[in-house]
Amino acid sequence: MSVKGIETKVLGTSATDIGIAAEIMRGGGLVAFPTETVYGLGAEAFDDAAVARIFEAKSRPSFNPLIAHITGIEAARTLCDVSDEAERLAAAFWPGALTLVLGKRDGTGISPLVTAGGPYLAVRAPDGDVVRSLLQEVGRPVAAPSANLSGQISTTTAEHVLAGLSGKIDAIIDGGPCPIGVESTIVGFDGAPRLLRAGGLPVEAIEACLGTRLVRGHADGRPVAPGQLESHYAPGASVRLNAIEAQENEFLIGFGEVKGHASLSETGDLTEAASRLFHILHKADASGRPIAVAPVPESGLGLAINDRLKRAASPRQ
Ligand code: TXA
Ligand code: MG
Repeated sequence: MSVKGIETKVLGTSATDIGIAAEIMRGGGLVAFPTETVYGLGAEAFDDAAVARIFEAKSRPSFNPLIAHITGIEAARTLCDVSDEAERLAAAFWPGALTLVLGKRDGTGISPLVTAGGPYLAVRAPDGDVVRSLLQEVGRPVAAPSANLSGQISTTTAEHVLAGLSGKIDAIIDGGPCPIGVESTIVGFDGAPRLLRAGGLPVEAIEACLGTRLVRGHADGRPVAPGQLESHYAPGASVRLNAIEAQENEFLIGFGEVKGHASLSETGDLTEAASRLFHILHKADASGRPIAVAPVPESGLGLAINDRLKRAASPRQ
């Protein structure tokens, strides 16, 4: 399904309009909405196809994992293993400009595209009446990156969002400018608490709350490149790309005319392929066989799919 050339509804912040936005998201649509940091581009986080459309709308060349926006700590506990330190930070700073990357629990129903197939899930309870009402109405976690085209800066007004995404998303809630204007601070817990991205909540406040210094991603202060994190899914088996036929014992992942043992999309639809990618990689991996993958065109979401497949195929560090 293409998301280009659709009419983008501009909604206000009345209860009626927030209800309309929630309805659109529950039906698999994409809605941009204001948070206290920047505008987010949201889809219901359990809906594989809707989450795939986020990447298409943003023209993201790779599947960076997305933040699941939730109403608060109770929702976080249903989705993740929340450590004591994470509990403390959430109690101090949620709702607010803090994202916690935590071990994802099994069987949550969160689309694997949200975690880029990995075992860690980023969660944040954003602040602001509009986004809080919206999350309440949707009734489920909302996966949302910043509402900008890939490679462009985050957006803090509805006009900026529309300049990039008009015609590619179903609706936007115009809630005026975002008060903080930079993205949330991200803290990971893959060991000692680590600063993964500096952002709207000062690091000093986090360190004062924990009583320890956060491990920094890079000495020069650059955020950790998310694609390089070990949290990203890499199958255990070898992966051979551009395969037309399975050799010997291989599990062939098909696309279009190459049928395979499971197909990313029999009709060659790249959005469908993206929505199935991590499910099928897991399935292929679970077969215990070497994996081969049919060629996927290098256009549209194919760039992100191929980026992920190339990384899956590259030798393990
Ligand atoms: O303030 C914000 O955080 C805004 C608003 C909309 O909430 N969102 C935002 O999302 O900035 P995005 O996708 O533009 O940036 C999220 C960052 C990305 O660098 C992503 O790689 C990282 O969070 N991230 C998300 N899930 C992760 C995970 N499981 N492990 C490591 N990094 C993760
Ligand atoms: Mg962003």
